[in-house]
Amino acid sequence: MHNIIKNQLPIGVFDSGVGGISVLKHLNKLMPNEDYIYVADSQYAPYGNKSAEFIRARSLAISQFLLQQPVKAIVLACNTATAAAAAMLREHFLDIPIIAMEPAIKPAVEVTRTGVVGVMATSGTLQSAQFAALLESYGQGVEVVTQACHGLVECIERGELNHANTHALITQYLQPLLDAGADTIVLGCTHYPFVKDQIQEIAGDKVHLIDTGQAVAKQVHTRLLQVDLLNPMTTQGKLNFYSNSAQQNAEEVISRLWGEHVKVQTLDV
Ligand code: DGL
Repeated sequence: MHNIIKNQLPIGVFDSGVGGISVLKHLNKLMPNEDYIYVADSQYAPYGNKSAEFIRARSLAISQFLLQQPVKAIVLACNTATAAAAAMLREHFLDIPIIAMEPAIKPAVEVTRTGVVGVMATSGTLQSAQFAALLESYGQGVEVVTQACHGLVECIERGELNHANTHALITQYLQPLLDAGADTIVLGCTHYPFVKDQIQEIAGDKVHLIDTGQAVAKQVHTRLLQVDLLNPMTTQGKLNFYSNSAQQNAEEVISRLWGEHVKVQTLDV
């Protein structure tokens, strides 16, 4: 396909569920003229406790779905899928930009004053070889304390951002990080920015929370610019949401997280 036509195709964005909408917001803010197709694989969420093999199979199926639409680039708006599947997807789809994400260890190490950085993420991310490599490259000279936050993704998938149960889980997971002296906490899962205010309230305003969404959006922009795939149109882009959630209120949850009512189509992948 000629670039003039190709650059007007949508950008595909996917996550295990609704978490990647936190990344989509940054993408849409930075590049409002682009079209986006967002896929929430909610039926299979959380990815955090699944095998890498399972996550690779889901990531491959969703990427194939996105490429059939077609899309001009794929954003893995999921730390867990990045750790398990980014390398495989890049080997599989050689001619499509695939932009992925990982916990923001480097910026956290740069800003900590206590020398203790906390990382909240899924166990899949924390146990991955990619995360070990990230610590090896950027975590030297500081103490990095990790916390797998089981159950938190499920609360956010259900849209329970302010429930007592969600609050209790956040308190339980934050406390060890605060006790260890962390003054900087990395939100290493794209679902967590949706409870950022709750995390900040419990952690106190002296604790710096780091979310990677904005950095990923900038990276997508840079990458599309490099390969001459930025959309030249100046009109507002279109958004399409897909989900395979079995929840009755899936459209309501997505609309709430997105910030306005959107239609959600059924994903059959
Ligand atoms: N939102 C995802 C992440 O960034 C995955 C959460 C999950 O499904 O466990 O890691």
